[in-house]
Amino acid sequence: MSSSLEGKVALVTGASSGIGRATAHALAAAGASVALAARRADRLEELRVELESKGATVQVIGLDVTDEQAVAAAVRSALDTLGRLDILVNNAGLMLLGPVEDADTTDWTRMMDTNVMGLMYMTHAALPELIRNQGTIVQISSIAARVVGRGSAVYNASKFAVNGFSEGLRQEVTERGVRVVVIEPGTVETELRDHITHAPSKAAITERVARIRQLQSEDIADAVLYAVTAPPHATVNEIFIRPTDQA
Ligand SMILES: NC(=O)c1ccc[n+]([C@@H]2O[C@H](COP(=O)([O-])OP(=O)(O)OC[C@H]3O[C@@H](n4cnc5c(N)ncnc54)[C@H](OP(=O)(O)O)[C@@H]3O)[C@@H](O)[C@H]2O)c1
Repeated sequence: MSSSLEGKVALVTGASSGIGRATAHALAAAGASVALAARRADRLEELRVELESKGATVQVIGLDVTDEQAVAAAVRSALDTLGRLDILVNNAGLMLLGPVEDADTTDWTRMMDTNVMGLMYMTHAALPELIRNQGTIVQISSIAARVVGRGSAVYNASKFAVNGFSEGLRQEVTERGVRVVVIEPGTVETELRDHITHAPSKAAITERVARIRQLQSEDIADAVLYAVTAPPHATVNEIFIRPTDQA
């Protein structure tokens, strides 16, 4: 096991699948202790067993990031159990595509609450400890913060919000040694699309991605690892990573 993150503690939201799961693997393999947060605690338990079998120190935290009090309790619990916090990966997210006209606005609420409010609550709760440790915050944003498309307006809005929030945060904390990293993946093969409730949008994106070689979660985990293992004086502010086949 490499030791570049030996002695560091990371908290990864949305660690129960996809990019979050792969990121937890990568951080643990680099020597970090990892707190795994998501709603599906059974999935997190499976991951804990896997990571512990490779020698990692792991904590499972059942968490809905839209619940601000639960977020604060999760950060306290990670500090109590793992002793400190150096890296926060705000990865939990939803992509509920569909046109604005006739939208089921509960999709909007779920998406904004998770992608935006959840990420901001997590950041707020962890920030004092991250300032203390000159830590790193990694925001899993999206190509949707850069490229706008029909049927994606609210997902776009949520990821534009992530980027705006993160740049403002960066300016507030960078001179105190806290690094804010924004990662913007294009299409990654995960469960993200499974949750789309608007059937025509789901069918269209399923058809579109079938024609390309999608990114894998491990590609994004590699990008996270690159950013968090950069020397402390260097901040990788932004990584935009797309499938080669995605024009
Ligand atoms: N896949 C892509 O093409 C792509 C591209 C660009 C950006 N992204 C971003 O990457 C991030 C991860 O997505 P993914 O592609 O890995 O999809 P995924 O496999 O569906 O993972 C999403 C994760 O978010 C968690 N989550 C959702 N709502 C939550 C909540 N309220 N509280 C806590 N955790 C919650 C889920 O866990 P539970 O259901 O167990 O809570 C799950 O672990 C998202 O922010 C997404 O926007 C993905």
